[in-house]
Amino acid sequence: MSKIIVMMGAPGAGKGTQARLIAERCGYPQISTGDILREMARADTPLGHEIKATQAAGRLVSDEVLAEIMLARTSQPDCRDGYILDGFPRTLEQTRLLEDIAKRQEKSILVLKVVVPRDSLMKRLTGRRTCTRCGEIYNIYLRPPRVEGICDLDGAPLAQRSDDRAETVSTRLEAYERSTAPLIDYYRRSGRLIEIDGERPVTEVFEDLCAVLEKAGDC
Ligand code: AP5
Repeated sequence: MSKIIVMMGAPGAGKGTQARLIAERCGYPQISTGDILREMARADTPLGHEIKATQAAGRLVSDEVLAEIMLARTSQPDCRDGYILDGFPRTLEQTRLLEDIAKRQEKSILVLKVVVPRDSLMKRLTGRRTCTRCGEIYNIYLRPPRVEGICDLDGAPLAQRSDDRAETVSTRLEAYERSTAPLIDYYRRSGRLIEIDGERPVTEVFEDLCAVLEKAGDC
């Protein structure tokens, strides 16, 4: 049975960093709802403006918008053999939708939770810089590029996300605790959750994730 791999964890836990590596290794597409929404927020439309304001404030975008995105994206041909979800589901309603999608597509769900203590998250988020061309993720304190402000991979400039300012980060962490953390218990109870210590170098976390995926026959 093909798989839906769900990356879970607090903002800044390293979901995106690890999802990119897993996607490269396993050949599944990485579906980042944050990236899709940031792209939609660039449109000069009422929906684009609403998403931009919601993300900048660190609040969650509505379940209706997320449902439209997910139904469209997961029915693309590249998702046929499996895919990696980075940032979805985040609410009970979204969890229900994912169960429906998995059932309809005859796929099983494996949830990988990257666990990082709250104290480390602030440094990770406020120090994050992302390549404006390829999306590679850096951190000015923990994983700096070779040349300041420039991507090692393609030489494009790096940018800071609008929601990575200290005051917005607190709102995002609260939204996570309130709406998303309770879902972890649901997946744990159904035996589909694996927790990985994310407070280690990126390569070590990745090795652990690969071991889990190999054991499950997914990569
Ligand atoms: P989204 O883009 O999904 O942000 P997030 O969940 O807050 O997660 P982040 O991308 O901030 O962190 P990450 O865990 O991916 O960490 P990363 O690998 O980048 O969502 C943004 C917004 O969009 C939401 O607030 C909401 O408004 C909206 N949204 C998205 N999905 C939604 C949904 N389903 N429903 C409703 N609204 C939704 O790493 C972070 C930093 O740490 C980087 O600098 C990295 O270099 C560093 N780092 C990573 N791993 C390590 C390591 N092992 N050691 C040291 N540093 C590390």
